[in-house]
Amino acid sequence: MATGIFAGSFDPFTTGHLDIVERAARVFSEVYVAVLNNSQKRCAFSPQERVAQVDRAVSALPNVSVISFNGLLVECMREHNIDCTIRGIRSAADFDYERGMAQVNSQLWPEMDTVVFLARPRYMHISSSIVKELASYGACIDGLVPKVNESEIVERMRNNGRERGF
Ligand code: PNS
Repeated sequence: MATGIFAGSFDPFTTGHLDIVERAARVFSEVYVAVLNNSQKRCAFSPQERVAQVDRAVSALPNVSVISFNGLLVECMREHNIDCTIRGIRSAADFDYERGMAQVNSQLWPEMDTVVFLARPRYMHISSSIVKELASYGACIDGLVPKVNESEIVERMRNNGRERGF
């Protein structure tokens, strides 16, 4: 069976992301969740915090590991012998973005492939940005992020979310 990588900023990791990882773990022999560690990108959570959040959320899945990466995704794939990138799509806008990324990645490394999971309806409205926005206004984020990470996200966004413009 093939191996897959689900890469992203995960700032923060949502229940929509978790659903994709759980589904991918049933299809791939090994799934890597790769947290982008890019100092150019302003995030609410440090790379270490994001890795820890994903780790807590996927701890029950035996064939899932969490790593962080910077640079090109295909280089990370080559380094870990990973066959496919795993992506989730919620909308037509996501599709257009993903199509471009899939084409760039396969041009960089023709041996790789991209496998897309369609978001299930109950997760289609969830994004990391929506989570941060709601939490920064003190609104309920129950069900939008894994329960194990909820209090950390609520605290962080309540304390400095709006001032710092996350
Ligand atoms: O959280 P996102 O925006 O969905 O994650 C996008 C990500 C990290 C998968 C993408 O930006 C990426 O692969 N970045 C690494 C740099 C790279 O390989 N770029 C070429 C592909 S467009």
